[in-house]
Amino acid sequence: EFTNIAMIGCGSMGGGMALLFAEDGVNVSLSDPSEDAMDAVIQKAENQGYNGRVHKYTDYTSLCKSLSSPRLVVFSLPHGHVGDKVLEGLTPHLSKGDIILDCGNEHWQNTENRQEKAQESGIRYIGCGVSGGYQAARAGPSMCPGGDSSALKEVMPLLEKVAAKDKEEKPCVGPIGKAGSGHYVKMIHNGIEHGMMSAICEAWGVMRKMGMEYEEIGDVFSNWNSQGELRGTFLVSIGADLSYKRDSSDQSDQKSDRQPNQGRKHPPLVISQVLDKVVQDVTGEEGTGVWSNREAIELHVPAFTLNVSHALRLASAFRGDRERAHKAHDGGFPPVELNISDKQAFIEDLRKATYASCLASYIQGMNIIAKADQKNKWEIDYSQVWQIWRAGCIIQADYISDEILAPILKSHPSSDDLNLNFSSRVAKDVKNCFPALRRVVAKAVETDQVVPAISTTLEYFKVASGTDLPTAFYEAELDYFGSHMLDKKGDDDDNVKKPMEGKYHFEWKPATSQ
Ligand code: 6PG
Repeated sequence: EFTNIAMIGCGSMGGGMALLFAEDGVNVSLSDPSEDAMDAVIQKAENQGYNGRVHKYTDYTSLCKSLSSPRLVVFSLPHGHVGDKVLEGLTPHLSKGDIILDCGNEHWQNTENRQEKAQESGIRYIGCGVSGGYQAARAGPSMCPGGDSSALKEVMPLLEKVAAKDKEEKPCVGPIGKAGSGHYVKMIHNGIEHGMMSAICEAWGVMRKMGMEYEEIGDVFSNWNSQGELRGTFLVSIGADLSYKRDSSDQSDQKSDRQPNQGRKHPPLVISQVLDKVVQDVTGEEGTGVWSNREAIELHVPAFTLNVSHALRLASAFRGDRERAHKAHDGGFPPVELNISDKQAFIEDLRKATYASCLASYIQGMNIIAKADQKNKWEIDYSQVWQIWRAGCIIQADYISDEILAPILKSHPSSDDLNLNFSSRVAKDVKNCFPALRRVVAKAVETDQVVPAISTTLEYFKVASGTDLPTAFYEAELDYFGSHMLDKKGDDDDNVKKPMEGKYHFEWKPATSQ
């Protein structure tokens, strides 16, 4: 059991986790380039009654001396070179057997490089995804550690204490697999998160164009969150919450503000003031969104919903470009008001379309994880992946967890077989939602609504289970101009074995003299 640990990085995540460990009786030695940041954590520790359990250190020598052996050093740092520098500076002060627990959103390859580097000195480096945002960092996050099995075993009792707990009080943390697998699974968690957020925001946009007030949409989200396929979906539940928020603290959160105005002027709802520009990761360039999509493409995993969600986020960020194009396109193609005769029925369709898109995001994300697992031989424990996503994390979705993932992931599937599209349980839900999804997309297309993730989800399900795609023509064109080689109908078995190769070439036109 670790009775003292170091926390390197005292931002909102690291600071919150430092207090979380202190609350559990652990002495925490802080290190951060900003003394103010460390002082703020110490002040909070005092206010919260953990006096004397949190101390600051301004050099690695005294920081490492404050820890008993084997030392446990937690990183909560921005991804990239910062962690490399910290590891380099810290290594001479650590000893064989010490453990580094990297709780940042680090790229899994950086993690693997550091694991190798640390191993040269006998230091065990765990890459541990942490999910739930800064409030969960303080209250108990979902944690996703991967790496050296002996180190995982040693840190697990402490992590189990501080992690989020599911409804059965089981901790949402567990040894995920070897090497960089913990950070990999967290990266794909974020890819899924982005797919779900796109679908939810698109549904919100459609409801706005139906003429619904912000708070009325909040009521719809709250209803979606309480029952049916979107029940217990964290992103839907916070969607409800934020719909009621007003921007002055004295009158905030008052649903009753919807009552007829009695002469009092209400502060505006915060959501009505938010610009349609999704800011990017702290570095402004790279982050889990870019990485997870790059992985999908590099591993040849069709991830329509995730790819398009990422593109929507990017397009939204470049607001200046959109404004310029808006002028060039003489006002563009703004959505028109949606006149829906049966509002309740359409909202129900929208709920199913949103669920289908969230499910598609999970399917695509799991396919990326399984493919990477096969390639890197991480031996991911999928029952742990299921457990860590039960609570505390951003993609928490109780129905998907209970009904869809539990029967598959808890049976310890091999990554070779893990494609949720092969599951009859998944197929049942897709079949059930498909007509609603189609109706929503059709209506949205007719009225120029912005629904990239939802509409591409419709395409995804058609393509993923389609056996008569128009790509026969695509393939013929490639063979025509590029002697690309193709397979003929009836060659399906071979196709399964060698998906990236064709066998035949046709001379489509008479050869011209060279
Ligand atoms: C989480 C979140 C979190 C996320 C940032 C947003 O699981 O708590 O996924 O880790 O990365 O809140 O970051 P991006 O700008 O990279 O999406």
